[in-house]
Amino acid sequence: MDHLHEERLLILDFGSQTTQLIARRVRESRVYCEIHPYSMKLEAIKRFGPKGIILSGSPSSVHDEGAPMADPELFELGIPILGICYGMQLIARQLGGAVEKAQRREYGPAAIDIDIPGDIFFEIEKDAVRVWMSHGDRILKLPPSFRTMAHSDNSPIAAMGDSERNIYAVQFHPEVAHTPCGKDILENFLFRICGCSPSWTMKSFVESTISSVREKVGQDQVICALSGGVDSSVVAVLLHEAIGDRLHCIFVNNGLLRKGEAESVQRVFRDQFKINLIYIDASAEFLCRLQGVSDPERKRKIIGNLFIEVFEREASQISNARYLAQGTLYPDVIESVSFKGPSATIKTHHNVGGLPDSMKLELIEPLRELFKDEVRLVGRELGLPERIIKRHPFPGPGLAIRLIGEITPADLDMLREADAVIQEEIEAAGWYEHVWQSFAVLLPIRSVGVMGDERTYDQVIVLRAVESVDAMTADWARLPYEVLERISNRIINEVKGINRVVYDISSKPPSTIEWE
Ligand code: XMP
Repeated sequence: MDHLHEERLLILDFGSQTTQLIARRVRESRVYCEIHPYSMKLEAIKRFGPKGIILSGSPSSVHDEGAPMADPELFELGIPILGICYGMQLIARQLGGAVEKAQRREYGPAAIDIDIPGDIFFEIEKDAVRVWMSHGDRILKLPPSFRTMAHSDNSPIAAMGDSERNIYAVQFHPEVAHTPCGKDILENFLFRICGCSPSWTMKSFVESTISSVREKVGQDQVICALSGGVDSSVVAVLLHEAIGDRLHCIFVNNGLLRKGEAESVQRVFRDQFKINLIYIDASAEFLCRLQGVSDPERKRKIIGNLFIEVFEREASQISNARYLAQGTLYPDVIESVSFKGPSATIKTHHNVGGLPDSMKLELIEPLRELFKDEVRLVGRELGLPERIIKRHPFPGPGLAIRLIGEITPADLDMLREADAVIQEEIEAAGWYEHVWQSFAVLLPIRSVGVMGDERTYDQVIVLRAVESVDAMTADWARLPYEVLERISNRIINEVKGINRVVYDISSKPPSTIEWE
């Protein structure tokens, strides 16, 4: 979707792991920005019309053969530029300064002293500030017309600038939380040097998206696969605002959902938001295909393929459907365009929901420009219930990959009940927002117990609760003993067939979040 944000900033990515973080900081300061590969053509940059350009860090060194460089004409456009880390070394190198390999790598916190106090770039709270460094090379000689703006013990030129041409550069990382003055420095660049105003808000996003969706869709019909997760929920409500009944949401109950999930999706979207919702209960079909299957990857394939079958079948009933709406987010978009580098090699997880090209529907992806936290803000702006906005991720194959071994309806019921207890107790204890995901896993083994005077020989529930920021790494949540105790007592008392609860204390890596 092409938004005409009047004021935009361009971030040229040289492959740093923190490039996305720079973008998030800029947007938190309410300036719209996009990340593009460093090799973006000058013509395209001019068309993009940025009010300022940030050059990111990089795993490369400017001394490497074939090190990524900026188009020299970039510096002639008259657009303010900020180089960060590698971005700084590159500016020094390309504009006639010199870069040397430092004696030792500087990594971690450092204090800088500001050499040119009154300069607007460095108008921040204190004179000596803590910053985060992570670099091998450093600037040996300034390019002509640049001044040293700050130094640290290890970096005689920790920041430099040419206030005439509005080209600035810092050796440290203003985008990370460990640089407390980073926000001030970035905002000085955005507001005072580039002349941006803080006008990018979710309200303006919602308004411009609604009008551009209306324009694009016209009188055609749009289909949306609703899963009840944050992204597809926001897409559904946003599109409904734009085109009302011409939006058709399809929600497939695969029989592997959490307790009450199918009902709550219908209640919220059909009853509350009055969205055209087609609810398909395909549980029997899914469970039938999964009968006798215990291999996790086969489970995933069967579920993914059948989902597409069911979805296509239903979608074909909607006449004149021309578009398919999807909840693609900005990180997925960056991954596919980004210059090689760590951010490109880490893949988002096996996301279900990719529908086949054979459906011949054109895509509408209204969240393509947003980060996850922005999607949540949009959801709030649209009045979605907090429960949905804060909802933990839930895998497409659902409970099938949390029921180890073969899937039976009786085991699914047991797992669903135990899982519901966990959700209730984690929420009641105020831990829901602190954990990334929490859930039950049902093991296919039995252990001995004693209940009243009777010996039991029942199944085991594993409680899994992890903290994470992106699911790439995770650590088990340090839940209070009292919460663990309540969960265990309730599951063993309330869920028939379970006589033992254990807590999974493995981190990822080397374990994974899910058990299958
Ligand atoms: P793992 O278990 O690999 O999971 O640490 C990382 C994240 O991905 C989710 N996950 C899935 N999501 N389909 C999905 O849509 C899947 O097959 C799948 N497997 C894992 C998992 O819940 C966690 O958030």
